[in-house]
Amino acid sequence: MGYKDIYDRFINAIHSGDLKPGERAPSIRNLAQELGVAKKTVESAYDILIGEGYLVSRGPKGTLVNPDLVIDAAYRDHAPSRLDDPDLRKIVDFRDARGVFQLGIPSLDEFPYKKWLLLSGKVTRSMTYEDMNHPSVMGHLPLRQAIANYLNISRGIDCSADQIFITNGYNSSLRLILEAMASGADKVIFEEPGYFFGQKLLERRIQNLDYAPVDSEGVNVDFLVAHHSDAKFVITTPSHQSPLTVSLSLPRRHQLLNWAQENQAWIIEDDYDGEFHFSRKNIPSLKSLDVFDRVIYVGTFSKTIMPSLRTAYVVIPKALIPQFYETAEIVETGLPLLPQKILELFISSGAFFKHLKRMRSLYESRRRMVHDAFMEMYGDYFDMPLQNGGMHIVAFLKHGAKDRELCNIWQSHNLQVLPLSMWYAQKKHRKYGLVMGYTNIKSKEDALSALRLPYQQTRELFS
Ligand SMILES: Cc1ncc(COP(=O)(O)O)c(C=O)c1O
Repeated sequence: MGYKDIYDRFINAIHSGDLKPGERAPSIRNLAQELGVAKKTVESAYDILIGEGYLVSRGPKGTLVNPDLVIDAAYRDHAPSRLDDPDLRKIVDFRDARGVFQLGIPSLDEFPYKKWLLLSGKVTRSMTYEDMNHPSVMGHLPLRQAIANYLNISRGIDCSADQIFITNGYNSSLRLILEAMASGADKVIFEEPGYFFGQKLLERRIQNLDYAPVDSEGVNVDFLVAHHSDAKFVITTPSHQSPLTVSLSLPRRHQLLNWAQENQAWIIEDDYDGEFHFSRKNIPSLKSLDVFDRVIYVGTFSKTIMPSLRTAYVVIPKALIPQFYETAEIVETGLPLLPQKILELFISSGAFFKHLKRMRSLYESRRRMVHDAFMEMYGDYFDMPLQNGGMHIVAFLKHGAKDRELCNIWQSHNLQVLPLSMWYAQKKHRKYGLVMGYTNIKSKEDALSALRLPYQQTRELFS
């Protein structure tokens, strides 16, 4: 590598915005070491960059990208982008999108922030040398114990810590399960409609992927029995179907468990927001009825605590422990220890239970408020049935199929609603509408003033 290559790298990084005005460039010595070249080579590149005004030398403070540099937008717009692929672009936009009615985010304004900071400080200050060693691939044992206790009490799941694997999110949980258990030819059944990211992951990973429709009682088990008796895995969201929020009825729960036992199939229960059920009876998990041990339970702290924690877990049947342990040793490397310790203290101190209780009643009232505001303004165009739980609501279009066009309009007003049709992999059962989060709307007035923004354009679209 010569000085010209180093020069080119800087020019590209600066023009593409990866290196911004005012940011520090690495020291000549460090960069030379990093690239395995002589100091002189880096020095020559820096001299030219300084001469051209891209970098400035600030003596002991080191070398910076010139803070006064104005990047030519035309260059940046034409610079090759990693996101030129339209499908990838769509997915990235969806994950990173922020705005009013954003989906699946807890009420961040009501999070017990001070308590969390207190516990974070405590954990950081008490860090030991041992805490710097490799973390366990199954997860921090005290956290696994705390989760097992929580699941026993709150979700009716009879499990112990050795059945629990900590992962960094739902897709990681799913990948671990498939890695440990699925062979190339296995048939996997997913719900239709179903969780967008889960479906995308399965499309990449599973050759024999098929779908079972969902109706007002959850996934249609008669359909499954009739058409997919050869399936090895069924992935389902029984507490609040994603995205329709209906709960799987009790007869269907038993039918599904019996089917799995008879066919030696596995059920993957995605209980992503089962904690937020508002009818008087808290809904038990499917796993709590699983006398045959055919259910692999997948939970997450993204909804109960915060998505940026990136902490989720899998509860595996006892018979599968050695198989999972061996797989994890090969394909996993464990998660950062300190956040696991903070979370463990949060649960074992009782703060988690207290928080859940508060959120349950807050969500119930915020949901009602957003529902009422929405129906007041858009009731002519939509039906919005409220189910017994869930952290989002679905508005079904009474006529037509223009949910994507509508979402484009709403998103241009910073309203992050999503088109229901996006959750359907196939066209035949597709329904149209809006899927929206309500958890961060504080009052009916806030809801109304946000909903008013696209009112005129919405009417025009439907006229
Ligand atoms: C259906 C469903 N499953 C699982 C998750 C949890 O994902 P994660 O644990 O990766 O945040 C979500 C989050 O939006 C979801 O909607």
